[in-house]
Amino acid sequence: MPLDIDHVRSLFPAFSEPKLAERPFFDNAGGSYPCRFVTERLERFYRERKVQPYEAYEASRVAGEEMDEARLRLAAMLGVETEEVSFGPSTTQNTYVLAQAFRQWLSPGDAIVVTNQDHEANSGPWRRLADEGIEVREWRLDPETGHLDPGDLPPLLDGAKLLCFPHCSNVVAEINDVAAITAHAHEAGAVVCVDGVSYAPHGFPNVGALGADIYLFSAYKTYGPHQGIMVIRRALGEALPNQGHYFNGDTLYKRFTPAGPDHAQVAASAGMADYVDTLYAELGLPHADPAERCAAVHDAMRAREVDLLGPLLDFVGSRNSLRLLGPNDPSVRAPTVAVLTARPGGEIAAELATHDINAAGGDFYAVRPLEAMRIDPGHGILRMSFTHYTTEAEVDRLITALDHVL
Ligand SMILES: Cc1ncc(COP(=O)(O)O)c(C=O)c1O
Repeated sequence: MPLDIDHVRSLFPAFSEPKLAERPFFDNAGGSYPCRFVTERLERFYRERKVQPYEAYEASRVAGEEMDEARLRLAAMLGVETEEVSFGPSTTQNTYVLAQAFRQWLSPGDAIVVTNQDHEANSGPWRRLADEGIEVREWRLDPETGHLDPGDLPPLLDGAKLLCFPHCSNVVAEINDVAAITAHAHEAGAVVCVDGVSYAPHGFPNVGALGADIYLFSAYKTYGPHQGIMVIRRALGEALPNQGHYFNGDTLYKRFTPAGPDHAQVAASAGMADYVDTLYAELGLPHADPAERCAAVHDAMRAREVDLLGPLLDFVGSRNSLRLLGPNDPSVRAPTVAVLTARPGGEIAAELATHDINAAGGDFYAVRPLEAMRIDPGHGILRMSFTHYTTEAEVDRLITALDHVL
């Protein structure tokens, strides 16, 4: 059964705000609207339990319980152990801390592989390991299509200890086959770190099934609060040196989060699990475990997005003046549609705003991918990104507005 879009939108306070609801939102890859389960939990936490958690008194006890609930329920959805999920201020901060752990763990002369398709968050911190004598190899995208070819990997992985790559890039949007690439890296003896930030908003993946050793995403793009969520599988998490306080080193989820947790936002993250469960209930499917429920919701979101993508990609394809980044087949990409326009991307986005369309232009911290595709980051691209909660009518309005401004 398809998602009931009116019900879906009723679960987002933003769609009841006239100033937002009247303007089709196409900057979701920058950050999604939060669902009401998250905003309600956040508000309740600040009102009723904004105290140091995990003490015996009532407010403190329920604060801690709600934080634990978030990790427990998200881990169950993602198909991993509860202790394997941790929260940091952002994905950029999380990769920075992880890179410090690898800095201590690797030895001079060891090799790692990074891509030039990644957002800088999953690129720069790893490349800086070269300062320590680590050999940094680059898995390069195709300059025309932006595609990352797994066929290029064997020589790059030879003797490598770590492979970092995106589940899907925030500008190319092609979905990389994480399970196959990870299996390949494991065979070659490397661990993998996957940036799932641009993928997870389109359906939380089963990280356990994908096999990645590290999987990162940002909750503020997955209908949640402003947190970076990091799955780090136990074997690797216990092998890497602890980056937290020394006396917390035995607790896996504290090992790579040196910043004190944002209690309220961690607690509010349970609202993302409420959201998935609410959508699952609507699908009319039989009782299932959290990972199965999550998979069904993932598929329903993707099906809707693939349908919505068709007309927008057709429009882009019909304009010779536009260069689409990534594939034009909706089934192999996320609904993050970046195009190179004759005028700077930011200029077109500003004109779209005068037509009541909220979209974005710039380099999106994808400076390396843009340069690799021979696009001047200063000129930038226009990015129109949506999710399952977008309507057909909004896509039509975007296309009409594009027709005016291009
Ligand atoms: C693909 C991708 N990775 C990483 C990041 C960085 O995430 P954060 O803002 O949580 O540091 C972003 C942010 O836009 C992104 O799009």
